Amino acid sequence: MGHVELESTLSPTQLALRRTTEPQASASSFADALITSRQNISPKRQVEPGPNVSQLDQIFRCAASAPDHGLVRPWRFVIVPQDKRALLAEVFALALVDRDPGATLEQIETAREKAHRAPVLMLVVARLGACEPPIPALERMVSVGAAVQNMLLMAHGQGFGSSLTSGQAMQSPRMRQLFELATGEEAVCFLNIGTVSKRKAQRLHPEARSFVSSL
Ligand SMILES: Cc1cc2nc3c(=O)[nH]c(=O)nc-3n(C[C@H](O)[C@H](O)[C@H](O)COP(=O)(O)O)c2cc1C
Repeated sequence: MGHVELESTLSPTQLALRRTTEPQASASSFADALITSRQNISPKRQVEPGPNVSQLDQIFRCAASAPDHGLVRPWRFVIVPQDKRALLAEVFALALVDRDPGATLEQIETAREKAHRAPVLMLVVARLGACEPPIPALERMVSVGAAVQNMLLMAHGQGFGSSLTSGQAMQSPRMRQLFELATGEEAVCFLNIGTVSKRKAQRLHPEARSFVSSL
């Protein structure tokens, strides 16, 4: 009752502020904690279980809320289920031998293994070919990065570890063939998600003053 009487003396703006300040404060500290505590968890440090179907669905919904100039949806993701990992392993191995015909059996085996590590593994594909409206490829890459970051953050929020992995195999024609990439599509990296088995100390993030200036 006392609370209502006090509120009646406030202007509509003050009232609106008063009603939103607390949730905003907690939302901003939550966002700050979520964003700044995310860290790369390499596939080697990921174990089962990965996200289930509804958690994955939530992760993809977060990708869909990335900024997207012209709404051209310049990303797509291709999940590699466990029963298809051997195909990817073969591409990793052959791509290595293409690059380095002298690769040792051990190196080839390590390349293969990379396809089997993360509980959930998907290819991030950027759609950079002709589009309507003609949004510059650079802007579309920003959208892809934002979609990926949204996914990493949601996976982190769900309690999973996640990481991005790339390497020279990304450019291999064998990769394009396996994932049926169309003209204008580029394989950017793999996104890996799973339960954290071991965490490293978080890296030091750069100070804002090292990358912010005023005109
Ligand atoms: C597109 C992309 C691909 C990446 N590929 C690799 C990779 O293959 N291996 C790796 O160790 N880090 C890779 N990274 C960097 C890590 O994902 C990570 O961001 C970096 O190690 C910094 O650690 P942090 O995310 O914990 O701050 C990649 C990052 C991006 C944006």
